[in-house]
Amino acid sequence: MAGTHDAVEVIIAKRDGGTLSTSQIDWMVDAYTRGAVADEQMSSLAMAILLNGMDRREIADWTAAMIASGERMDFSSLSRPTADKHSTGGVGDKITLPLAPLVAACGVAVPQLSGRGLGHTGGTLDKLESIPGWRALLSNEEMLAQLEGTGAVICAAGEGLAPADKKLYALRDVTGTVEAIPLIASSIMSKKIAEGTGALVLDVKVGSGAFMKSVDRARELAEVMVALGKDAGVNTVALLTDMDTPLGFTAGNAIEVTESIEVLAGGGPADVVELTVALAREMLAAAGRPDIDPAQKLADGSAMDAWRSMISAQGGDPSAVLPVARESHVVVAPADGVLTRLDAMAVGLAAWRLGAGRARKEDPVQAGAGVVWHARPGDTVTAGAPLFTLLTDTPERFDRALASLEGGYDVAAPGTAHESRPLVIDRVG
Ligand code: URA
Repeated sequence: MAGTHDAVEVIIAKRDGGTLSTSQIDWMVDAYTRGAVADEQMSSLAMAILLNGMDRREIADWTAAMIASGERMDFSSLSRPTADKHSTGGVGDKITLPLAPLVAACGVAVPQLSGRGLGHTGGTLDKLESIPGWRALLSNEEMLAQLEGTGAVICAAGEGLAPADKKLYALRDVTGTVEAIPLIASSIMSKKIAEGTGALVLDVKVGSGAFMKSVDRARELAEVMVALGKDAGVNTVALLTDMDTPLGFTAGNAIEVTESIEVLAGGGPADVVELTVALAREMLAAAGRPDIDPAQKLADGSAMDAWRSMISAQGGDPSAVLPVARESHVVVAPADGVLTRLDAMAVGLAAWRLGAGRARKEDPVQAGAGVVWHARPGDTVTAGAPLFTLLTDTPERFDRALASLEGGYDVAAPGTAHESRPLVIDRVG
């Protein structure tokens, strides 16, 4: 039971570089969730945390207080082990779409509670909602039944799961306090621990298109999250993966679903396949099934069968033709040469400005909008040949999208050698 404190006293303690007690943290998170601490007080504390940090005990207490603000789910009645994956957010990051059915096809259930996109990073639910009929909202009973049957579910987190995080995340988003490691780690891990997964693989993105711009910061975030998961009895590992360059060849909604289906059909971009299989191996190992080879389940069509069953179970038509944007605009390569840089942030912003993402959480997204790039770093390009195709229903958006792509890519002289860093940079676990 939290003692009674005073919000100003807690804010001043953190402002002056102090350490908050368990009782102060429990009280503050609970009082904020109930509305007894005002938004301006919590945003002031969030800024003090961003500037002065928190030690591991404070982060663990903050996470526990956010879990205690809502319900906890329980999958222990399922006949198979559970594993989930969480990405800290990237551009073109459609990995959840092929990954969840792939791991389900390997016999491990995947309870994937996902979000909608905000800002330049896309949201898994927005992508799946481009499939006619598909619905993101499931009751806990529907979710359990689908996990027992199909083995994979991707749906919206219910209102009851870590409500403190929902309120705090929305506040951080408009107060410049998203990028604090204690706040990101507790936000992600409170939801994943409350969700009740047995194993968790974190995909911590590093680079221009990610919250964490440097490998050192990403490793610190990964270490904090892995420790929080393990302490809560969730078998947790993290991969640090590149997000200087966007994944695959598409950023948007329907176009990312199409690319994911190509992967499930045994094709698709090499980097998307590589990361999907790497994360699947980690999830299977963490769930106690290191003996199963996910690459084989992609090749033999069983992952595709699981995808079709997962989409149908949520009302979607897996054979439906997906929405296509009404307008397109092609950007051509300025010269013959080699593409040496494709900036994830520039592409993410362009897709967002074309209507694939939203500026406010109540805004609609366009299913067909987004960016297709026709070359990846290291590829040869030809003067006048398409380099990007911009897609939208609202052509007045092209100018601002083109402005965000400007300076977002480099074409070097023909024959220039190009070496990018590996996609999987490190592992923490
Ligand atoms: N994703 C989350 O769920 N929370 C954060 O704070 C950042 C990314």
